[in-house]
Amino acid sequence: MSAPVLDLLGVGFGPANLALALAVDEHRAATGGAGLRTLFVERQPGFGWHRGMLLPGATMQVSFLKDLVTQRNPTSGASFVAYLHERGRLADFVNARTFYPTRLEFHDYLQWAADRVRCPVRYGTEVTALHPVRRGGRVELLEAELSDGTGVLTRSVSLATGLRPRVPRSLRTGARVRHTATFLPDLAALEPVLPPEPVFVVLGGGQSAAEVVQHLHARYPRARVHSVFRSFGFSPADDSPFANRVFDPGAVDEFHTAPGGVREELLRRHAGTNYSVVDLDLIQDLYRTEYAEKVAGTARLHLHRASELLQVREDGDGLDVAVAERTSGLVRRLRADLLVCATGYEHPDPTALLGGPQGLGAAVHRDDDGRVLVTRDHRLVTDPDVTCAVHLLGGTEHTHGLSSSLLSNAAPRAGEVLESVLRHARAPRAVPA
Ligand code: FDA
Repeated sequence: MSAPVLDLLGVGFGPANLALALAVDEHRAATGGAGLRTLFVERQPGFGWHRGMLLPGATMQVSFLKDLVTQRNPTSGASFVAYLHERGRLADFVNARTFYPTRLEFHDYLQWAADRVRCPVRYGTEVTALHPVRRGGRVELLEAELSDGTGVLTRSVSLATGLRPRVPRSLRTGARVRHTATFLPDLAALEPVLPPEPVFVVLGGGQSAAEVVQHLHARYPRARVHSVFRSFGFSPADDSPFANRVFDPGAVDEFHTAPGGVREELLRRHAGTNYSVVDLDLIQDLYRTEYAEKVAGTARLHLHRASELLQVREDGDGLDVAVAERTSGLVRRLRADLLVCATGYEHPDPTALLGGPQGLGAAVHRDDDGRVLVTRDHRLVTDPDVTCAVHLLGGTEHTHGLSSSLLSNAAPRAGEVLESVLRHARAPRAVPA
């Protein structure tokens, strides 16, 4: 522990902390290179953004203008437009007349941005715990335990550890029961043993489910694909302009100061902008596919509406799956090769790394529902003797609104967190625009 104390330790290096690292770099450049001591730690061996779902043709759900920097600093050299220019595709992209690049292209942009970050990033390493360092009755520093056996001291932390795949409790994952988070590698691993006419079951009614259904149907022309979901049909994502304002940077101000009941109501009313919904174009594609098969009398795409999985049994060479139609109680039994759970994600407890009663976790303030309290500049609210700062980048829907775990506000949030970090640091305090 002889290394100098950090001003900022970033836990996780997905888009949220990548945006923060770019803001730190720009701050360093603006202040003549002096300034913050930082380290970002990422458990993946290299940069990767939801690699398991980089399906060919799948597009972004946010405008490319909501990249890592533009909404904080439109003149930044790390924008999506700068990336296009450097790749020699700016004119081609303009001619494509879209706000929504493919996820594959956006991943390449994120990778490009990660490669140009000057802040040190330690890949292949996990932060396993954050311990408070008590001195003179105050907690000014945190000690981070890393999986490589080292430790670091820091004045502030940005926790951007993302979401955790959710699988219904009634299901046990195995070689043939997989979550979408690892869809592409799982499919590649299974491919050698798939029969010529494989049967796939996809559970879920949201965007990932619809994308996986479409992918399996197109990729395996002799496959049967069973799409099982609880609603009557895929519902379209509300990306209309007025509703979309819920993701604006300014909306975070309004949301954060609103009464708790109003916040809950707004989250409920606008859930259809993000949760359990599907891009309308994709819905229409799937509908056309299903209809064309009805006309041809060769159904390969089977939509099980208002349905749920009753039972799944995995044996050596496949799955026995029972699907119950909730309206009629009718049960259909299928023999399948793979069940893909497109059942979403959950927020892990943001304080898990902070330890229980002995750790900082006990000093974190919570609301009546047990959710952590978070200041507008993304810091956990703690007892007053805790003067180090723990910032949450994600998992703050209840305090900062629907954009919390999305890309929409990654850029402006990075600027806000940087300002907060600077307040806790011993460094010059200029912040880039
Ligand atoms: P993200 O999950 O990307 O990164 C967290 C990182 O932390 C991971 O790399 C993880 O390995 C690392 N980590 C976790 N714990 C650690 C520890 N203890 N130590 C070290 N490292 C640790 N949103 C949007 O706005 N528009 C979109 O189009 C999409 N599209 C989309 C597609 C798919 C398939 C998914 C699953 C999600 C989206 N999203 C999205 C939402 C998504 O949450 C968002 O795009 C970003 O990934 C959020 O970035 P974060 O950095 O917060 O988390």
